[in-house]
Amino acid sequence: MIERRKSKIQGWGVFATAAIPKNKRIIHYAGEKISNQESLKRERRYIQRGHIWCFKLTNRSVIDAGVGGNDARFINHACKPNCYIDIKEGIIWIRAAKPIPKGQELTYNYNTDGEGLIKCRCRPGCQTLL
Ligand SMILES: C[S@@+](CC[C@H](N)C(=O)[O-])C[C@H]1O[C@@H](n2cnc3c(N)ncnc32)[C@H](O)[C@@H]1O
Ligand SMILES: [Zn+2]
Repeated sequence: MIERRKSKIQGWGVFATAAIPKNKRIIHYAGEKISNQESLKRERRYIQRGHIWCFKLTNRSVIDAGVGGNDARFINHACKPNCYIDIKEGIIWIRAAKPIPKGQELTYNYNTDGEGLIKCRCRPGCQTLL
């Protein structure tokens, strides 16, 4: 249903290889479950290489896709995305926010509460800082 390919937004992206119906669970965000405190340390390291891998699960725990992650970690951010996040029983699901045509890049809103070090490239002229 999906594959990783070069993205116009940045680096790798994930694309639909078939039409995906609205609300479909596409993939879960795999990785190592760590504490919030540990993630702050790791994120500082990742951000130096220009990457965000840590996904906040609860106020206390984070999934670090830099360790044991799957293709979900290559999904890029967009301010007007075609996917949304649904956390069920500690699993972070990426679901289709609308019908997604074959070939379209998957995106979700990272909702980063970080330092805004990366300029968003989701569309020409986007002023958001990730
Ligand atoms: C989870 S990774 C996504 C996969 C990434 N494109 C790659 O090749 O590894 C997150 C990183 O992708 C980049 N990224 C994702 N969405 C972006 C966007 N809308 N604008 C600019 N960079 C983006 C940033 O470097 C971010 O830290
Ligand atoms: Zn944007």
